[in-house]
Amino acid sequence: MSRRPMIAGNWKLNLTVEEAVSLAGEIASGLMRDDLDVLVIPGFLALEPVALSLSSSPVLVGGQNLFWQEQGAYTGEVSGPQLKAAGARYVLVGHSERRQYFGETEKTCRLRLEAALKAGLRPILCVGETRDERESGQTEGVVESQLAGALAGLSAGEMAEVTIAYEPVWAIGTGLTASEEQANQAHAYIRGWIGSRFDKLVANSTGILYGGSVKSANAAGLLHQPEVDGALVGGASLSAESFLGIIQAA
Ligand code: PGA
Repeated sequence: MSRRPMIAGNWKLNLTVEEAVSLAGEIASGLMRDDLDVLVIPGFLALEPVALSLSSSPVLVGGQNLFWQEQGAYTGEVSGPQLKAAGARYVLVGHSERRQYFGETEKTCRLRLEAALKAGLRPILCVGETRDERESGQTEGVVESQLAGALAGLSAGEMAEVTIAYEPVWAIGTGLTASEEQANQAHAYIRGWIGSRFDKLVANSTGILYGGSVKSANAAGLLHQPEVDGALVGGASLSAESFLGIIQAA
């Protein structure tokens, strides 16, 4: 399979700049693999110092969110060009915490995704169902509408820049993980959807990461599923030991 695996660590609202730089250094110096991409996603304040500290390392840096305007009177926002200039290569779009706490909608995901592409950043679009939605059999419908909303109007060429993260909301930060079969099935559904919306070539080359309570103990089983191309890790990315353990298990 030609898809290069990726292990991404989403540090969320954690770590001071100093702590973030120190964790990035520990990850870079402990990294033993060059057959996959490793990405760290610090808070905005730490992004540039972390990117500078990793400049001679293969570890990549991403942003947790971006605003869709490039500049102007939008107090408190951060734009794609600012992230790019600070050293980001990737940016998360539509993380479930943004959807849950900050009013993210399919429309705003679409705007952010387009802004990321315009700025030369690779968006990682996060999708996933809540526990109620899974229990009432709506997983595929929810994921489909999140994909269709955020990817509306995209060309196949633009889609080649996009990574998807399937993160069932009930598994994020809860210690509950999708079973290997549940993860693989959801990823296969997403890949099939991309195949019919774009084409098979795009579908087969799109990286689809799994996220939701990934840790070194469960990583190998999830990451060895044929449709799972990597992991988006929250809690377990805050320690170099556990994050490197996940990378080793991939
Ligand atoms: P978690 O978070 O690994 O702490 O469940 C994953 C995520 O939110 O990306």
